Amino acid sequence: MESNKNLVLVGMMGSGKTLIGKLISKQTKLKFIDIDNKIEEKEKMKIAEIFKKKGEKYFRECEEEITLSCLKGEKQILSLGGGAYINTNIRKECKKSSFSFWLNWKKDIIIKRINGSKKRPLAMTLSETDLERLINERAKIVHIGTNIISKLRNIIKKNKLSFSKCLIVIDSKIPKKFRTLLLRNLKNQKIYTLNFSANEKNKSNLSIDKIHNVLFKNNFYREDCIISFGGGITGDVVGYAASTFKRGIKFINIPSTLLAQVDSSIGGKTGINNKFGKNLIGSFYQPDLVISDINLLRTLPKREIICGYAEILKSTLIDSKKNFIFLDKNFNKILNLKGNFIINAILNSCLLKKKIIEKDEKEKNLRKSLNLGHTFAHAYEASLGYS
Ligand SMILES: NC(=O)c1ccc[n+]([C@@H]2O[C@H](COP(=O)([O-])OP(=O)(O)OC[C@H]3O[C@@H](n4cnc5c(N)ncnc54)[C@H](O)[C@@H]3O)[C@@H](O)[C@H]2O)c1
Repeated sequence: MESNKNLVLVGMMGSGKTLIGKLISKQTKLKFIDIDNKIEEKEKMKIAEIFKKKGEKYFRECEEEITLSCLKGEKQILSLGGGAYINTNIRKECKKSSFSFWLNWKKDIIIKRINGSKKRPLAMTLSETDLERLINERAKIVHIGTNIISKLRNIIKKNKLSFSKCLIVIDSKIPKKFRTLLLRNLKNQKIYTLNFSANEKNKSNLSIDKIHNVLFKNNFYREDCIISFGGGITGDVVGYAASTFKRGIKFINIPSTLLAQVDSSIGGKTGINNKFGKNLIGSFYQPDLVISDINLLRTLPKREIICGYAEILKSTLIDSKKNFIFLDKNFNKILNLKGNFIINAILNSCLLKKKIIEKDEKEKNLRKSLNLGHTFAHAYEASLGYS
């Protein structure tokens, strides 16, 4: 290793970071540090004990402090705990000071290795289904960037998401240039398209039927894929259609409004309206991929950008004064979709949602906090007939 950067090995528990780190250390004579061991040394307790006595939040704080100080030290090889890479500060520092490698294994191999392990505190408390969900959550990445639709083929490949046939449901207001770009990037697959007019009246069983009928007519199976290309309305409808077609087909969400990029595409809520109220019928169904391309936002009416900004601002009230101040100070740059400002605003909002949803996916308690303001707003919308 000629460069001055660290080598960081990241991966789920059981992915072999320690073994591989030690082997590379032997070859390169660079020091190998296992962050979990460092934490145990500092706390004079095993990780499982720290989880039990002081809780996961405390563990994550120690993990951040120790990892950041190691990353800033002399050049070395580091093994990062499975959850550490979710932490934004750690990821930023890794980007600056290290080459990072994600050790990716097939789900069933990891599950076999770690299930019931006494050394791994999370594994001890989780069932096989929960472990599988955790692996999926950590492996799954929401991709945010400018012009990333043009990288879609690579992103699909990297995420090992294979399908030979897909139906793209497209919001009819999305400009033609974006459709062309998307279709060009999926040219290896057999593509079907369906135009969708995004309004609350179309968040209905009729729309679900229309989507399902196209899938049946063209012999789609669970291994095939549905892509939602539109705002929150399109995503909610297409997600619900995906979750109910043959009990679940692959699903990619390409949110095209700011609100959808920061909120509705994250967390797996799908749904349609009913005469008794909004979003009353639906499912929790996590997409296989979310691709948030900033360029799509440039053709949105200003009003829609303001709606999305309001959602981001509202969600910081739940969790982060620091992010609230950032949004308040930079609102002009964010509303004008300026480079890093808009990306930061979207990323922070997604991370907040992710943090809450990981703890309470099915909205039994904590996730309800994300609904701040919804009860009043949904009732108001229903009273106006969603017009
Ligand atoms: N599932 C969830 O967790 C969740 C969370 C929040 C909101 N929602 C739902 O999301 C919906 C609102 O989403 P929304 O605000 O994105 O509304 P939307 O989907 O109606 O989109 C807003 C408008 O922008 C147009 N549009 C979309 N992309 C465009 C583009 N790139 N260029 C130009 N025009 C474009 C649409 O046609 C529409 O007219 C509501 O139904 C709400 O219930 C769901």
